[in-house]
Amino acid sequence: MKTVLKNSQIGDLLFEDGVITKVGGNIDAPGAEEIDCTGKYIMPGVIDAHVHFRSPGHEEKEDWESGSRAALMGGVTTVFDMPNTSPQTITLEALEEKRALAGAKSHVNFGLFFGGTGKNLEEIKRAKGIVGVKVYMGQTTGQTVDETSEFMDGLLRDLFENTERVIAIHAEDEELIKKHNQIYKDDNSPEIHSLIRSDLVSFSACRRAVHLAKKYGGNLHVCHVSTKKEIELLSKYPEVTCEVTPHHLFFTVSDYSRLGNFIKTNPPVRSQNDVDALWEALRNGLVSFVATDHAPHLKVEKERGYWDAPAGVPGVEFALPLMLDSVNNGLLGMEDVVRLMCEGPANVYGVRGKGFLKEGYDADITVVDMDISREVCNEDVVSKCGWTPYAGMTLRGWPVMTFVGGVLMMEGREIVSGNKGKEVVF
Ligand code: DOR
Ligand code: ZN
Ligand code: ZN
Repeated sequence: MKTVLKNSQIGDLLFEDGVITKVGGNIDAPGAEEIDCTGKYIMPGVIDAHVHFRSPGHEEKEDWESGSRAALMGGVTTVFDMPNTSPQTITLEALEEKRALAGAKSHVNFGLFFGGTGKNLEEIKRAKGIVGVKVYMGQTTGQTVDETSEFMDGLLRDLFENTERVIAIHAEDEELIKKHNQIYKDDNSPEIHSLIRSDLVSFSACRRAVHLAKKYGGNLHVCHVSTKKEIELLSKYPEVTCEVTPHHLFFTVSDYSRLGNFIKTNPPVRSQNDVDALWEALRNGLVSFVATDHAPHLKVEKERGYWDAPAGVPGVEFALPLMLDSVNNGLLGMEDVVRLMCEGPANVYGVRGKGFLKEGYDADITVVDMDISREVCNEDVVSKCGWTPYAGMTLRGWPVMTFVGGVLMMEGREIVSGNKGKEVVF
């Protein structure tokens, strides 16, 4: 099967049997299906390198079918799923169980993280085809952390010394969190979340991990960097990669009064000063990529009091429109969006055949219309959680077509194929 996208910003693009075969200029392709992309921008399919699709274990919040449909709506063609499912992806058996689920249900391509616990090094060494190893340095949803900082540091050292894969960390200092929990234990307002998990909580864990990576020669990636302090630290270690989420770019502590626990997330939203530093770091190349940390929880769960409401916000459907809107607002260039949402994750994790519109690369393609303006509504949310913290925002710039492996999957906000994605190769 041949398809040619005509008249985009790069001219035409031809793909055959799921692979890009010609890029740019005027392509004459007899027998190919022609799709007019006049006035549209074509980009490599977005790779969201940090999602929580909840399956196995919490299919009431999300599953591979619903999560991947949400991804398609957002122009996302590949997702990397985190190990804090139930059971956690910390054994070879759990890895194979999740692999089977994703393979059977996901409409987008996928990769799977393996969790590092300090007790499963042998399994990690034998795990095949994983994105990398995820380490939770602090407690978070579906993840208890009872170990001391010393234990955590030993775990990181072992991983840095024994694996070639990327070690991705959730950098929050559990000992500090526990202290702060005591200070605020009688308060029940969502604002305390950013005080309990202060910028020092993130910075402290980040600094420990960076120093260990330096000392033992590890391949470190810092997930969801949220503070100016971490950015300043990481600017001194260019070999350490990092990501930023949309919620840390678009919300600050001032939004708790409006959104309460709906923006409770780990690490928490920060000050405007931090947000400004993140935007600057996106532009100056310090941030390797944008990933959503799509962490769906049900509305009823978020409506509980502070201590009982789970942390995490969904994001896979709206990350690209948020970034495209920022291009329209002059905050970023279109080439920054492609670097941060397609090339960056492909480079950090060494993804084969994705992230670029090049001959021989997979035909994972997102077509965007920079002039479509629409309001984000909870009613439109495809994720099983059924809500989004971005509701009410009017965004200009939306994906209008999503191709996965050369198959048109989403067109004009309709899912048009039931095709399944494939596991990514590294
Ligand atoms: O807020 C968070 N929620 N942070 C995490 O690290 C995990 C996530 C979740 O899975 O809900
Ligand atoms: Zn995390
Ligand atoms: Zn996460």
